[in-house]
Amino acid sequence: MNFTLRDLAFEDIEAIGRLENELFPTDAWPLEMFYTEFFQPDTRRYIVAEADGVPVGYAGVMVIDTTADIQTIGVLPRVEGQGIGRAMLTELLGEARRRGADTVMLEVRADNPRAQHLYTRFGFARIHTRKKYYRDGVDAWVMQLVLPATEGTTP
Ligand SMILES: CC(C)(COP(=O)(O)OP(=O)(O)OC[C@H]1O[C@@H](n2cnc3c(N)ncnc32)[C@H](O)[C@@H]1OP(=O)(O)O)[C@@H](O)C(=O)NCCC(=O)NCCS
Repeated sequence: MNFTLRDLAFEDIEAIGRLENELFPTDAWPLEMFYTEFFQPDTRRYIVAEADGVPVGYAGVMVIDTTADIQTIGVLPRVEGQGIGRAMLTELLGEARRRGADTVMLEVRADNPRAQHLYTRFGFARIHTRKKYYRDGVDAWVMQLVLPATEGTTP
């Protein structure tokens, strides 16, 4: 399957909101959250993965001073396991570096080994557990990546 990455456009947001509800049934962001994020390009960058002209994944990063946060990342189940998550994370880590970040943080559900494995492959390490962080009582792992001084953040 071929896919391309591009920047999130305002017109994408409703479709991305539908993907969000499908991917995060207990913790979905409300649509307003995507609009709020979208309108802060100075500190945010959101991207979309598109296959056959349809968005199948999305991801975003926030960079403030030297710290970046992976805000969200999601890929539709029917196209999982084909490198889209990896490609989006690579793009966002490059963006973080371009904006001057030296550290990247993220939170991931303790019961999401698939995403944890993706992050571990990129060098993220678990540094903290936030007990009962999610609405359904599941813990969050806080993971951190210290960006190497030289270019190239792929697993
Ligand atoms: C986590 C997620 C973004 C990964 O996206 P993806 O496009 O499937 O990922 P990729 O195809 O790039 O695979 C990257 C890594 O994901 C993991 N992965 C992929 N397919 C997998 C599978 N069938 N089973 C377990 N892990 C798998 C592996 O770590 C893989 O790397 P490797 O195969 O080289 O070791 C996607 O599964 C997803 O959107 N899940 C639901 C939403 C979510 O949990 N988001 C993360 C919130 S923190």
